[in-house]
Amino acid sequence: MREIIKMVYLTRVEHFNAAHRLFNEQWSDARNNEVFGKCANVNWHGHNYELHVTIKGEPQVDTGFIFNAKTLGDLIKDVIVERVDHRNLNLDVDFMKGKFTSAENFAMGIWDELKPHIEKHGVQLHRVKLKETQNIYVEYFG
Ligand code: NI
Repeated sequence: MREIIKMVYLTRVEHFNAAHRLFNEQWSDARNNEVFGKCANVNWHGHNYELHVTIKGEPQVDTGFIFNAKTLGDLIKDVIVERVDHRNLNLDVDFMKGKFTSAENFAMGIWDELKPHIEKHGVQLHRVKLKETQNIYVEYFG
């Protein structure tokens, strides 16, 4: 008989600020403003991002943790926050080069960067949730 696996989900939340601009270079300023609104501002603007990283796994017999939450926080800071905090997403962040710096693309980029670092600890990445404003967040499940 197969043993039942009991999965638990753990979320760590980190914060950072970054600048960006959303624009399609093929379009006029008027069209960019119409589609992207304030995010098309020519001289950039910033967001206070909130990043939620959810992992899943089984609690370990010797700790009761699926993974140490402090270690997870350090890993998110090293792999993501250090590279994006107080940076310009369009110009400074290698994994966003050549992409629209939408919350959608940014969350997907964060997923791709984080995944190998998390999986080498034997836990699975479940979700990256990225909150761009009080009213908008995106979620990516890989
Ligand atoms: Ni914006």
